[in-house]
Amino acid sequence: MSKVVQPSIEALRSPSDSERTRVAPLWLRLGFWICVLIGVGAVARRVIAFVHPSNSAPPELAALDKAFASHAALTLAHILPALLFVLVTPLFIFRKSKETGWPDYALFLLGVVVGITAYAMSAYSVGGWVERSAVLVFNTLFLYSMFRAYLYMRRGELLLKRQWLLRAIAILLGIAVTRPVMGIFFATSPLTHIQPSQFFGIAFWIGFSTSTLIGEFWLRRNYSQ
Ligand code: HEM
Repeated sequence: MSKVVQPSIEALRSPSDSERTRVAPLWLRLGFWICVLIGVGAVARRVIAFVHPSNSAPPELAALDKAFASHAALTLAHILPALLFVLVTPLFIFRKSKETGWPDYALFLLGVVVGITAYAMSAYSVGGWVERSAVLVFNTLFLYSMFRAYLYMRRGELLLKRQWLLRAIAILLGIAVTRPVMGIFFATSPLTHIQPSQFFGIAFWIGFSTSTLIGEFWLRRNYSQ
């Protein structure tokens, strides 16, 4: 007589049930919201500097404002989709249903634009090859993660799609982590005499590695089978 195999409780759980157990700790959720705020603030600061160039900004900031104004169209093509990306991100992360919805499609579309324009922006990079190398590494990782997520979505493997999209988001939010690092370099530059051209690249490497590693650590703890 053939034995009837009973499915385990785990197997009967829908992806959305098991998803609900993966609640990020408070420090990570706080860090996420701070990154979103920094991203929004960075875009707002840049758009305001385009519309109302300041005459009273410190010389280092004024030089940066001038540099970005020299390729304003490309900068806007990068930062406006980037702004939308970070605004849609919470809708994807905190949505109850884990089925594919419009935020997923919006993230794929905006992510491609942000990634391609980030490569183009790095042609003018303030931090030279140190910054450019960070962009090549992390932007490529970001686009690769988006691509894997898209493939899993097409195959209907929703948990893997979510995992790779979260990885992409963690990498992208590295841009927000670069900002406080740059802030520290700016604040200490009267003592250290280090210029933006010297510290932008270091800040990019620190910011993107930090967010990528934190994201990876959390994903491996919570999503590995
Ligand atoms: C994969 C993610 C991203 C990469 C690789 C990236 C890369 C870059 C690069 C290379 C530049 C030019 C910097 C320079 O000229 O030295 C830049 C500028 C900029 N990016 Fe991104 N970016 C990313 C995502 C974002 C996000 C999510 C935001 C905000 C929502 C953002 C906001 C800005 C702003 C405002 C600028 C203009 C410079 C400034 O005002 O500081 N970027 N980005």
